[in-house]
Amino acid sequence: MTEKTISIVTGATGAIGEAIARGLAEDHNNEVVIAARDENKAQNVINGIIQATGNQNVRYLLVDLSRRAEIFALADQWQGPLHLLVNNAAVSPRMRQESQDGIEIQFAVNVLGYVWMTDAFTPHLKAGAPARVVNVASYWAGDLDLDDLEFKRRPYRNGTAYRQSKQANRMLTVAFAERLNDFGISVNSCHPGDVSSKLSNDLGFGGIESPEQGAATPLWLATNPVGHEKTGRYFSDLREERCRFGENHQAIEKLYQICAQYS
Ligand SMILES: NC(=O)c1ccc[n+]([C@@H]2O[C@H](COP(=O)([O-])OP(=O)(O)OC[C@H]3O[C@@H](n4cnc5c(N)ncnc54)[C@H](OP(=O)(O)O)[C@@H]3O)[C@@H](O)[C@H]2O)c1
Repeated sequence: MTEKTISIVTGATGAIGEAIARGLAEDHNNEVVIAARDENKAQNVINGIIQATGNQNVRYLLVDLSRRAEIFALADQWQGPLHLLVNNAAVSPRMRQESQDGIEIQFAVNVLGYVWMTDAFTPHLKAGAPARVVNVASYWAGDLDLDDLEFKRRPYRNGTAYRQSKQANRMLTVAFAERLNDFGISVNSCHPGDVSSKLSNDLGFGGIESPEQGAATPLWLATNPVGHEKTGRYFSDLREERCRFGENHQAIEKLYQICAQYS
């Protein structure tokens, strides 16, 4: 008999995250928890997934991923092991916004949200090892400024802040992979696909792929043995790709240390 697994997917009230959660729930050995901020949307999504897959073990937990305290409270309440964490939630508002805690919102949700979820759930991932973290990043990445991560000095452009956040996802994947490898936890990042969504529309893109196509690589990393055999790597179209952002260890460690100060 196949082992039961329990997974958390963030951003599953959005296009790609919902398709990831549904794809995981197709296997009835998977219990799937979506971590969402909007209760009505979350309820609708899980109803749809349960109806589509017949898997009754799909539920939601409420959390604002821009807020460290809420994430750690969620992890404190979590009972038992966790086998898979898919960090996928992201925003890209056209005007600069701050979280309730005063952090530029793309840095808070897209970057610190991934960091805090991974940190907060590490004890549960250790208990579930072999376990995986899949960070949904993007090929559209760059412009990271370690001295101005919150766009306090640079003029805010949502595309620039977004590209920075996706570069950070790819860099921090390496930092976490190195720290969690000894505990049997792999950490990889990927480009999903180009899908029409609130996020991509805010960035001025329409998207040419279906949510299911966009979910294919994250799902593959979540379920295929390669997602455990490899760690600290970047994938696209079901293949590993060289990631230049994962090669600058000095910058990766500096970014990791800056993120650790947001506590
Ligand atoms: N779409 C693309 O073409 C594309 C391309 C490359 C990479 N990606 C990556 O794929 C991932 C998913 O993107 P998507 O296109 O599916 O975006 P999306 O449809 O806009 O979904 C974004 C998700 O993030 C959630 N979220 C935002 N802020 C949150 C917060 N503070 N707390 C909790 N949840 C929050 C949203 O919740 P609400 O429903 O409550 O707003 C929604 O579920 C992102 O990491 C993105 O960078 C997407």
